[in-house]
Amino acid sequence: MKHLVSMRDVGKEDILHLIDLAERIESGKIRPDLSGKLGALLFFEPSTRTYFSFDTAIKRLGGNTLAMTGSGSTSVKKGETLADTLMTIRQYVDFIVMRHQIEGAARFASEILDIPVINAGDGTNQHPTQAMLDLYSIYKTQGTLENLTIAMIGDLRLGRTVHSLAQALSDFNPTFYFASPRHLQMPRYIKDELQAKGVQFKEVEDIKPIIPQLDIMYVTRIQKERFAVLEDYEKVKDAYIITPDILENVKSNFKLMHPLPRVNEITTDVDRMEYAYYFPQAKNGVVMRQAIIHTLLND
Ligand code: CP
Repeated sequence: MKHLVSMRDVGKEDILHLIDLAERIESGKIRPDLSGKLGALLFFEPSTRTYFSFDTAIKRLGGNTLAMTGSGSTSVKKGETLADTLMTIRQYVDFIVMRHQIEGAARFASEILDIPVINAGDGTNQHPTQAMLDLYSIYKTQGTLENLTIAMIGDLRLGRTVHSLAQALSDFNPTFYFASPRHLQMPRYIKDELQAKGVQFKEVEDIKPIIPQLDIMYVTRIQKERFAVLEDYEKVKDAYIITPDILENVKSNFKLMHPLPRVNEITTDVDRMEYAYYFPQAKNGVVMRQAIIHTLLND
């Protein structure tokens, strides 16, 4: 691995290596040393978890960061191109973590830069470090990634995390249920990729009948900021709301995950249930991002 741009580029061996590494970092068996290393955190779109967990991950290993949150205070405001911005920042740092609103921006960066590029989310396309922390969370709670039954619920078209996670799990014989409003279904190209790999998936509207079968329920918010017409968002914003009563009859190993931020799709009284795993999931992002950075800098 030279860059981490898309989960399509990450094979089963890489995934298992990163999970093993994250586990060893978390247990204290190894502590990668980032002293003297400088990472640029270029966030053209807002972020809480991804930004702060990368910053934490790097600094706790002795490294340091240069941060850009929003392009307002940079020369992008004066019309500088993304290529020139990246080529300039490259002169100062050892690796780049970038979130950008345009699909393919991280791929573009990886093609013009000779230092590792980590995609922290590109538009509606990919969020591979989120997928890796999701896999680590699934592994920690289920003891395996193999043969699990997973429902992905919410905005499956515009939410990038589910694209990356569906691709990431595709080599582990999952059974997927996809539940979304009709215009926010999982994109055709992802479904084609799953079909080509023989992955079982079913699109459902009503989630109640499938809940007793699930190992993991992965809920996502409706991506309001990506709707051109606000009324279209209003029509679908309450399509799926997870409440405690919906989670009666779940399996004992069941876990409820969400990449966060949440709006209203999981009510806050679910937070205290034993199944709620979204805050520990966010915490898992630190060690997984440490494992990713260590791997990219040493490969
Ligand atoms: N899960 C995630 O990407 O959250 P942020 O947008 O807060 O980084």
